[in-house]
Amino acid sequence: MLAFVIGSLSVAVIGAFLAKFATADGDFTLLSKGRAKRERVEGKVVWITGASRGIGEALAGQFASLGAKLILSARNVGELERVKIETVGKHPGSCIEILPLDLASGEEALKVAVQKAESLFSGSGVDYMVHNAAFEHPKRKAVGETEEGIQTTFNITVLGTITLTKLLAPFMLKKRRGHFIVMSSAAGKCPAPGQAIYSASKNALNGYFHTLRSELYSEGIKITVVCPGPIETSSTSGAGTSSSGSSERRVSSERCAELTIVAATHGLKEAWISYHPVLLVMYLAQYMPTVGLWLIDKIGANRLNAAKGKGNTDSWELLFGKKWKTA
Ligand SMILES: NC(=O)c1ccc[n+]([C@@H]2O[C@H](COP(=O)([O-])OP(=O)(O)OC[C@H]3O[C@@H](n4cnc5c(N)ncnc54)[C@H](OP(=O)(O)O)[C@@H]3O)[C@@H](O)[C@H]2O)c1
Repeated sequence: MLAFVIGSLSVAVIGAFLAKFATADGDFTLLSKGRAKRERVEGKVVWITGASRGIGEALAGQFASLGAKLILSARNVGELERVKIETVGKHPGSCIEILPLDLASGEEALKVAVQKAESLFSGSGVDYMVHNAAFEHPKRKAVGETEEGIQTTFNITVLGTITLTKLLAPFMLKKRRGHFIVMSSAAGKCPAPGQAIYSASKNALNGYFHTLRSELYSEGIKITVVCPGPIETSSTSGAGTSSSGSSERRVSSERCAELTIVAATHGLKEAWISYHPVLLVMYLAQYMPTVGLWLIDKIGANRLNAAKGKGNTDSWELLFGKKWKTA
């Protein structure tokens, strides 16, 4: 009888766990944290790069809803103005400054931007630096990558972000407080066929920021590395429809922004945001690399073909060798 009760309970617990995992849109630690801690953000200065659209725009809205003061950066000033007006419309009373910035403009220009950011809001200084801007071009074979594609990716995503960090960190160290939030990618955690250079750039960020945290941890500086899988943004909506009519299952940019702020305000060092199958592949690559890497090798060619045929590049079908129509 006791064995029956224990057996039934075990089955129920395992069933509940599997059901939760099947519907998850983030890693278990992240999803266990609940809501963002408003008190960690309210009145704080949050500088967001890549704020002119997509996840950056969603982050601006959600930080504003929590009472943060915002500095919005990107190259397109017109789009930043639009984001500012719409954010203030949704959250009246929001304090928002626009700081045009090209991450590829070199150290001197970035130094001027950092000084400007530190001087805003009566010189209160940047509390959260959200490194969200990045460069990504359409998926292609690694061996077909152009020199220009490699250089642009690394100049913007890696060198620009690291230089900005190096210039801002001394201001944070002086105050003994500051938090870098780094928008990395699932492609920074496991191989992403068709995105070798993008994956390399995100791996570089992961390596840099996890190491930087280990150096600055005892000096009051926090770092949260966020690794999203496919996210729905204005540039991806309608995209990803496969030749079979199925479409990529993407987490909304609003949910991605919400979970990013949950991760940061709960002090997580790393967080994953994605539906399956990408989330499952991330778990496998992290905890069972032999199986995870075998699986990714199996789907590599199919993913390249799916990208070429404008199909779903993150579906279960890739595993079963579906024949993709190429454009
Ligand atoms: N969307 C996804 O499925 C997904 C998945 C995983 C990770 N991510 C990561 O999440 C972040 C945001 O993604 P997203 O899809 O929202 O990106 P997005 O829509 O392509 O927006 C990129 C942002 O970066 C800015 N930017 C581009 N080049 C820049 C430069 N040289 N200097 C300064 N700003 C620059 C763009 O503004 P301007 O053009 O005006 O400069 C724009 O605001 C990126 O780091 C991306 O790698 C996205």
